[in-house]
Amino acid sequence: QVTVSDLMDSMEYGPATESAAEALAWLVDRGDRFGHFIAGQFTEPGDGFEAKNPATGEVLATLTQATPAEVDAAVDAARKAQPKWTGLSGHARARALYALARLIQKHARLIAVLETLDNGKPIRESRDIDVPLAARHFYYHAGLAQLLDKDLAEHVPLGVCGQIIPWNFPFLMLAWKIAPALAAGNTVVLKPAEQTSLTALLFAELTSEAGLPAGVVNIVTGDGAVGERIVTHPGIDKIAFTGSTEVGRKIRTATAGSGKALSLELGGKSPYIVFEDADLDSAVEGLVDAIWFNQGQVCCAGSRLIVQEGIADAFHDRLRARMAALRLGDPLDKCIDIGAIVDETQLSRIEGMVAAGAGEGALFQPDCHMPGRGCFYPPTLITGLSPASTLMQEEIFGPVLVSTTFRTPAEAVQLANDTRYGLAASVWSETIGVALDVAPKLTAGVIWVNGSNMFDAAAGFGGLRESGFGREGGWEGLMEYLRPKGTAKPLKPLALAERADKPAPADPLDRTAKLYIGGKQARPDSGYCRTVYGARGRIVGHVGLGNRKDIRNAVEAARKAQGAWAAASAHNRAQILYYIAENLSTRAGEFADRLHAMTGGPKAKAAAEVEATIDRLFTWAARADKAAGEIKAVPIRGTALAMNTPVGVIGALCPDEVPLLGLVSVLAPAIAMGNAVVLVPSDPFPLIATDFYQVLDTSDVPGGVVNIVTGSHTTLAATLAAHMDVDAVWSFSSSDISAEIERAAAGNLKRTWVNHGRACDWTGEDGEGRAFLRAATEVKTVWIPWGA
Ligand code: NAI
Repeated sequence: QVTVSDLMDSMEYGPATESAAEALAWLVDRGDRFGHFIAGQFTEPGDGFEAKNPATGEVLATLTQATPAEVDAAVDAARKAQPKWTGLSGHARARALYALARLIQKHARLIAVLETLDNGKPIRESRDIDVPLAARHFYYHAGLAQLLDKDLAEHVPLGVCGQIIPWNFPFLMLAWKIAPALAAGNTVVLKPAEQTSLTALLFAELTSEAGLPAGVVNIVTGDGAVGERIVTHPGIDKIAFTGSTEVGRKIRTATAGSGKALSLELGGKSPYIVFEDADLDSAVEGLVDAIWFNQGQVCCAGSRLIVQEGIADAFHDRLRARMAALRLGDPLDKCIDIGAIVDETQLSRIEGMVAAGAGEGALFQPDCHMPGRGCFYPPTLITGLSPASTLMQEEIFGPVLVSTTFRTPAEAVQLANDTRYGLAASVWSETIGVALDVAPKLTAGVIWVNGSNMFDAAAGFGGLRESGFGREGGWEGLMEYLRPKGTAKPLKPLALAERADKPAPADPLDRTAKLYIGGKQARPDSGYCRTVYGARGRIVGHVGLGNRKDIRNAVEAARKAQGAWAAASAHNRAQILYYIAENLSTRAGEFADRLHAMTGGPKAKAAAEVEATIDRLFTWAARADKAAGEIKAVPIRGTALAMNTPVGVIGALCPDEVPLLGLVSVLAPAIAMGNAVVLVPSDPFPLIATDFYQVLDTSDVPGGVVNIVTGSHTTLAATLAAHMDVDAVWSFSSSDISAEIERAAAGNLKRTWVNHGRACDWTGEDGEGRAFLRAATEVKTVWIPWGA
């Protein structure tokens, strides 16, 4: 007798292919040739390249390679449209974004099919994931536009944004870029990847249908050369890029010193940790999402399996069995799990990497049906690799999972963090204690507990280390497209008195101040000191002339201290900040005298600077335990915690004009949020900083949390910015060092925050506002399963 279950087992799998007719007709209607979308119009198609279906090799359309003049025209159009767009109310922009969200939903199937034709991803994914998430992004940002005027009234848009996106999520990445930029009141010039431009051109039509004013969204097509032109265009205020770390580094270098804002979402090699007490079947299913979603061409793909030794063999067995059930083939077939690789170049890159590295482990590929044409690569597992092997370290960007084992939770964390990237991580354990102990220790911008590849517009997404900087999604993502209101004035050169090489009468003692490293006074490595002149040009003291060795020592001390400082409770850090304020307060007169001797002016001004400094310390003591982050309302059976975590070691060149207030305005937010700092104090007036370390010494600040290296800003800036163990560099210096810092920071893609010669009003909100909190923290988004 045949049972239902026998029937199910014996039933032949039959294809259920989505029709491409509508999408192909859409292409035919447009003559299969596309120009750019500039100022609300499509331009005449010009010389260009072909858009191909990677599953079949068939040509879908011909696209135009943008000439420099076309890029200029797009930037001009965006520039012209910007004042009007930003002049609209937040509500008017919200309505436009809402209209776009609705149009995406109305045309969802057309967009999904076109995306699958152009990119090769399974229709199941473009239909159920890419397009709905893109619509959700526009809805969410309609909301942010609506609330912006009320909730962030003191902010204005950046202007014109150049946005360059990759080929792995063509439509979704477009949404991630355009929605926040528009919500904030910017206009955009977007360049899709040359492999996958069609849905961006369809989107261009939707902007007209939504009634978006001409020039608010401009789309130019072409390759990296067009990208370069956008990046270096003087008419652009911000670059937002998603793509390879290599190109991200080029963009960091190319924009250095330009004053353009920058956010980079780059590569990854995200760990997927499975503990022996995990729900193994769920963890296997999670891996299907982690590494076989979009053929593994996902920047945050869980591409590095780290599995506990005791269950490794059993887990790999289950995984191989699951892999054998994955269906590979025509991406338009609704039953397909694995579609085509985006193009031949990417396919041969994957093949080359696997051929070169797989021999170090054991390779498994299921015996799946491979189509006779098109760019396909089977799901692949390579076990038994050592953590240092190339395939464990390098991003493959294909359906290839590499695996290694661990014994203890500590070892799992160590292996997970043994990477130059820091985009995402998954941790699987049924024991809440294990999962929630390990999750915060992972160096990544996004962490999924018992899950993988979950995204939502409300939750920030973005990386650490060489995975880039900046966040997309949430209020934190919107902030990447805003700046504080007001026109920053250029920093005035300091009016320094003419030098008279005589000691100032008030200070007969020899006071050669030292550096302050690891909680101790340290002589400068150079053995040199430098004279500090006061307001009347007289000598007021000497300071050590720090060099690169001193910076290295200071960074080492900071790194050593940072972990424990970050682990201290926020209450503890707040108390210490209050204590610094108290100790400064008891010596207020002495500090005011010293300031006065150096900077001159009325005595009351110096006294006011000391009072403002105490006030600032109170501000950051107050914020220390009130800025933990937010909980995001994400549409899953869970929640996402947007945690404000420390950046790590911050190097800062302090302002020259208000030597004490400036020093503390930089130091206080950084240490309040759990960072350790290496400070280079005011170049002309460093003695106030060396007096200040006596205050630190009496205020229970652990050694190494604050390090002070006196010396020339111009000499020390590049050393700090190039140091591989520094996580961020800030500069408020009046020396012209912003460009050099940004260029040197490209090495490990550390975050930078530099003044580009602009002044800051240190006495006001400018000197303690939201920007400091943002710069002192990395938003880490932790997704956790949570009730109903
Ligand atoms: P890519 O980084 O070269 O391309 C991304 C975008 O940048 C494209 O629109 C491209 O035209 C543009 N571009 C290229 N050179 C540029 C330049 N100098 N200035 C400005 N824009 C430029 O990525 P590609 O070559 O397509 O893929 C190479 C590897 O990068 C992949 O194998 C993968 O490992 C990684 N990748 C990572 C992505 C991610 O989301 N993290 C996305 C795409 C690729």
